[in-house]
Amino acid sequence: MSNKIVIFDTTLRDGEQSPGFSMNIGEKIIIAKQLARLNVDIIEAGFPIASEGDFEAVREIARNVKGPTIAGLSRVIVRDIDRAWEALKHAKKARIHTFVATSDIHLKYQLRKGREEVLDDAVRAVQHAKNYTDDVEFSAMDAVRSDINYLCQVLEAVIDSGATTVNIPDTVGYAIPDEFGRIIKTIKQKVPNIDEAVISVHCHNDLGLAVSNSISAVQNGARQIECTINGIGERAGNASLEEVVMAIKVRRDFLPYTTGIKTKEIYKASRLLSTITGISVQPNKAIVGENAFAHESGIHQDGVLKERTTYEIMTPESIGLTKSKIVLGKHSGRHAFSKRLEDLGIKLNKTDSDKAFIRFKRLADMKKEIFDEDLEAIVEDEIARVEEVFKLEYIQTTTGSQTIPTATIKLKKGEQIIQDAAIGDGPVDAAYKAIERITRIPGKLISYSIRAVTGGKDAIGEVIVKVNFNGDMITGKAASTDVIEASAKAYLNAVNKVAGKRRGGLGVKEVRGSTL
Ligand code: KIV
Ligand code: ZN
Repeated sequence: MSNKIVIFDTTLRDGEQSPGFSMNIGEKIIIAKQLARLNVDIIEAGFPIASEGDFEAVREIARNVKGPTIAGLSRVIVRDIDRAWEALKHAKKARIHTFVATSDIHLKYQLRKGREEVLDDAVRAVQHAKNYTDDVEFSAMDAVRSDINYLCQVLEAVIDSGATTVNIPDTVGYAIPDEFGRIIKTIKQKVPNIDEAVISVHCHNDLGLAVSNSISAVQNGARQIECTINGIGERAGNASLEEVVMAIKVRRDFLPYTTGIKTKEIYKASRLLSTITGISVQPNKAIVGENAFAHESGIHQDGVLKERTTYEIMTPESIGLTKSKIVLGKHSGRHAFSKRLEDLGIKLNKTDSDKAFIRFKRLADMKKEIFDEDLEAIVEDEIARVEEVFKLEYIQTTTGSQTIPTATIKLKKGEQIIQDAAIGDGPVDAAYKAIERITRIPGKLISYSIRAVTGGKDAIGEVIVKVNFNGDMITGKAASTDVIEASAKAYLNAVNKVAGKRRGGLGVKEVRGSTL
């Protein structure tokens, strides 16, 4: 058996379907291209039947991203499989990934079907997918809580029908490493035709064991790991790609396996995902957290200065972290700006790069030093730009302990300038009410968060809002050195997304109901 572990990245499918991580098509393509640079073997680009947006994203990634196999998810339903293929057919290498639950709890309460019927559905789906491509993956959802004999029976039948990869998901993150390893071992022993397929694992992190379970599975015969950048995914997430890959690399003495991952691209991939989604990883996150290579205590600092390996089991360079930093400020030119973006894994086309450079210069006039996070906030604003149906021209707020908070807002819509004012509980609330009066798009603010993107008094403030527009949950984001302006722009960003969507435009992620 080969010792190469296939890395199947599902950041754009399982990761993207978790709250707060939705991306538009342009953003998904940017991530997919970085995954290709990372050299993942397979990119699961989406679930084409789930929404028009998902379909288009899979199709565009299949058309534009070279290198990895592109996979699309489908239930064991003919029209799902047809739709998946419709999106995937443009890829040089395409995989249809079809799944159905096999646990009694799912059969009884969710599918309301018997074991025989589900087995027949699985077989028919794989046979149907085989009409389109040789590369067919079958997933037995909730495999860990399934009856092992039934699971083995299903796996044997789908392999007989042509499945080339069989995936054993721990859908609810319930397994313990030893137990999960034994499940894989049993499958290897009991499924007579198992050698005709690759065993894959897909572990969720509800008990914080997704990476350990994946490694244990590999030690017992699995050869594909499904994982995501920064470990994003349903609920507590999926096994984190960077942790799985670095565990295999760093502990090759104990784990005699390899992956094809170019580990120096890991940090860029992690930062790019945070930049695009606006969700940072926790500072103590393994491999890519801000503190992963920081040494604070005197004893540790002393040790590292004397000999790095005293407290470091891998080098920051191995994941693509550069130590020396060029300080960017108002005297920096185009070259330093582009180089820094490149180091952060951000590739912009000429137009976006020109726009971002102008924004950078404007910010550099206001701020002494421009940090990576500032750059990311600028770029995020540019690349995540949605069609600006309404553009903020002017905002003025008055507030104080003895004053009724008031906001005056001027918006541009096409050639028209519209102005209005409103009072509210605070300046932000007043601004939102004024925007609502002008746009006539009523929305209910569900959540509001603000964070200083960098340190210092002149930090950029990034605001993320979630707004309910008559059932459409839309996220809006914006950054500015003025937090009231950032707040107004974030809300307007959400308004523009919903306005674009109502006009029939793309670029807005549909909010899906539960699809699995
Ligand atoms: O968690 C899960 O079971 C899944 C399957 C669709 C593979 O995401
Ligand atoms: Zn999953």
